[in-house]
Parts: sequence; structure tokens; C-alpha cells
Amino acid sequence: MAITEDVFLFLCILSSACALYKQWVSDTNFENATNWDKDLVPCGSDQVEFPEQTKVAVYVGAAHALSGMILPMDGEFILASRAGFSITEGHDPACGEGVITQFKDHNSLKWFDPALWKAAASLDDLHRGSYLFFVHEESVPCQHDDAVFRDASSFRVDISANGGSVLVKSVSILGQTFSNNFDFSHYMASSLGKLQFHGSSSLRVDGSACNDPTGCPCGNSANRDWICANIECSQLDCKKPLHPVGHCCDVCGAIVTIQFSANFNLESYRQHMQNLFLSLPNYRSLQMALSKVSKTHRLLGVIPYETTHEIQVVLQDQNAGPASGMLAEALAREVLKDASAHGSELGIDRAEFHASSGASSSDVSAAIAGNVAAGVLGTLAVLAFIVLMVVLHRRGRLSMPHLPSLRRRRKDGEIGEPGGPIDHGFDNPMFEKTNMIPDVPGLYGVESLNTITLTQSGVHFINPVYDETDFSA
Ligand SMILES: *[C@@H]1O[C@H](CO)[C@@H](O)[C@H](O)[C@H]1NC(C)=O
Repeated sequence: MAITEDVFLFLCILSSACALYKQWVSDTNFENATNWDKDLVPCGSDQVEFPEQTKVAVYVGAAHALSGMILPMDGEFILASRAGFSITEGHDPACGEGVITQFKDHNSLKWFDPALWKAAASLDDLHRGSYLFFVHEESVPCQHDDAVFRDASSFRVDISANGGSVLVKSVSILGQTFSNNFDFSHYMASSLGKLQFHGSSSLRVDGSACNDPTGCPCGNSANRDWICANIECSQLDCKKPLHPVGHCCDVCGAIVTIQFSANFNLESYRQHMQNLFLSLPNYRSLQMALSKVSKTHRLLGVIPYETTHEIQVVLQDQNAGPASGMLAEALAREVLKDASAHGSELGIDRAEFHASSGASSSDVSAAIAGNVAAGVLGTLAVLAFIVLMVVLHRRGRLSMPHLPSLRRRRKDGEIGEPGGPIDHGFDNPMFEKTNMIPDVPGLYGVESLNTITLTQSGVHFINPVYDETDFSA
């Protein structure tokens, strides 16, 4: 097994394109007990009934004796070799009293339901049950993934989505893989295709793998609403739940964000994390969702001006109560240590983490410097604004709203009387305590009018905060 994994990884790095496989878990197989209303596969004395309106293609893997069968208007049986039906005469002693058993309806199963897919890095892993964990948007097939419907099984899936079509790299059905849309659209138009896929959109394949070794964004965010409609979020125990990109729910745990360089390889990093950390006994219960995500940067938090990509590592543990997320946080710290020790080999420029306990990576110096700079800038901006307001007000260009009525509202809260003993509201010496500001001529006085003069060369004014400035210079 170790050899196949290494070979796979090698191929991945070599071809710089290794797909992920997402396998549909449900089926419409005759032999699957969960498909019958009595949760039992019908046997000899039973009468089988398909509701009249059922549209389904049922895979039959073996020979069955039944006492009778009522067929739907529109349906198909896919018979494996040696599969078929025969009618039992009278009673089958092995089955007891015969019952009428109905095939369950599969119309409500959605392509975009994350619970209906299992993900793996290879077909081998799918067969072995060695699955990968992903955020909700990536639990369903992404644009460069292979969507797999198990061999020897049939299914029915609703592919309604935003927009006309859903795109994946390839689709495997009954052992046949479609990666060319001409062939696949042919299949979709067949009667079997129409019984297996229904809904308002169509499914397309284009055979294009992710050719970027640093990873490709999933491309499912346009269908986020369809995906999250299937998800019910659970109650969380942690202090500061985190919001992973692409996930429908907040989580307890930790998120490591990685700025990567050109030699980063997403799949080998996944292996690296697996071998170094997740296979350790104390981290066995952890779930890791690793993916490349898009981040939109916004001016003043509103206007988008740039989209960048980063690697998101979501770490979640199974702990509940106060310990919830603590194991994940411990691993996040180790991941950061590993990233700073081996960053250049791994292709990691920078990494940081946030945990649901409120802790985050101790990039303290940079963070503090940033905060101070922002604080100074903010103060200057506020000051400039106040000066402008005062000037305009003095000139009669601006009428001030009545501030006292605003302040009185605070009585309702627990802050106490405005200006009372417990009123600590904003003790900024630069604003409130005017008496602490050295006598600056013109800041509040009438003289402010005189400090702005219009001359032929331009506007001169004295900024009370600084020295005399001449902007016409
Ligand atoms: C039977 O169907 C259920 C639900 O659709 C699925 O989870 C399960 O894997 C199927 N069982 C087998 C043996 O394929």
C-alpha cells in the first residue's frame, strides 16, 4: 500500500495534476435494504411495488424470487449477468409471511448535498474507505474533480443549480468514465441518463484537470445556497467560533492560513500533514480540510478591489464542552512551527492561525505596529474632520445637530450618568479634555476665521496641530 501511495504522489508531482475523486454514496440497487420501505430486501413470499410515478433505474445484482411485482410507469432494470426475477408459487418457507414492500422514492436526493459524497485522493482510497474531509462547498464535486458513481450500482440525483449547468472533470457510471462532453451529453439524453439525472440544470464534463500544483479553487461558491440548504449546523461550545471559507457552519477548532510560493504543492502538503501529524495517535480524531480558497479584499470593507488565493487548513476535533477545539489548536501551533522551520522547502511564505479559543498566531510585533499605525492615522483623520467641521460651522456653512439629546439616551444603559463617576466613555485626551490641550490659537476660537486667507497664489492656512504650512509652495 505504501508503494502505491508513493507512486501516486510521484505521479501527482510529476504531472502536476492529480484529481480528487468524489463518490456518490447513495444507490438505487435492488439488493440494498435501505431502498425498501421495510428496510429489508424483498424475498420469496413478498410482493414488490414501485409507486406509479416513480422514475428510477434499478440495478439488480442477483436472481430474486418474488410472489409478484407492480412496475412504475417509467423505469428500468439494469440486470447484472445471472440477475433476474422469478415468481414463487405459494409460500416460501424461508421468508415467512409475505408482505407488500415498496421501493423508496429517490427524487429528493440532491447533487449539492455534501452528506451524499465521499472524497478521496485516488480510486484506491475510495475502495479502501480512506476518505478526505472537506469544507461543505468542496465535499461535493468541484470543477476539476472526478465524480464517481459506484460500479455495479445505479442512482437518481437532482442536479438543480444556479445557472444552466454543473461542470466537473469527469463522471464515472457503471464502470465507464466520461471525460468528453460529446459522449456524456449523449448518455445524458438516453433514457437511462434521464432516469439517473433530473433537475433544472444539466451536468457537463470537460476533462480538464487542475494544472496548477499549488491547487485550484473548487468553483462551487456560486452554488453555495444550494449546498448550504442541505446543512443543519450544530450547537457550538467554543468561545469564538471560526468561519472557514466555503463552509456553511461556524466551527470550533483552528484555521491555519498559508501564503504560498510557486513551489508549493497542495497534494504533497496534504501527504506531508498526513504523515507528520494526522497519523499520530493523539491526532487521530482530528479532521483536516485543506484547500486553496479565494479571498476578496475590500476597500473600507465594502468595495472589492483585489482577489487573492491562499491555502486554508481547517482543523476540527471531536471534543465537546470547554475542551472543544483545543486539540485542533495544539495542532495548529505545530503546523506553524513546521511551516517556519521548513517554509522554503514546502513553498510556504507565511502562515498564521486563528483558534476558536480566541488565540491566534503570535505575529505580535507586526500586528502591534499595524494597529499603532492605523490608530495614528485614524486619530489624524478624525482631528482633521473636526477642524473642518469647526471651520465650516464658524463660517455658517454647516449647522450642527443637537448632540445633548444623543447623549441622554445612554441613561438607559448601565453606564450611569453622563459624566458621572462610572462614565469612562472614551477618555481620549486629545478630544474630551480640551483643557489639557495647550492653548492653540484658532482651534476653537473665532480666530480660526483669520487663519485661512485667500491670496492670488493660493490658499494659506494655519493648521493648529502643526506648524504653519504653505500649500501653495
Ligand atoms: C445502501 O444505500 C445506502 C444509502 O443510500 C448507502 O449509504 C449504502 O452504502 C448502500 N449499501 C451498499 C452495500 O452499497
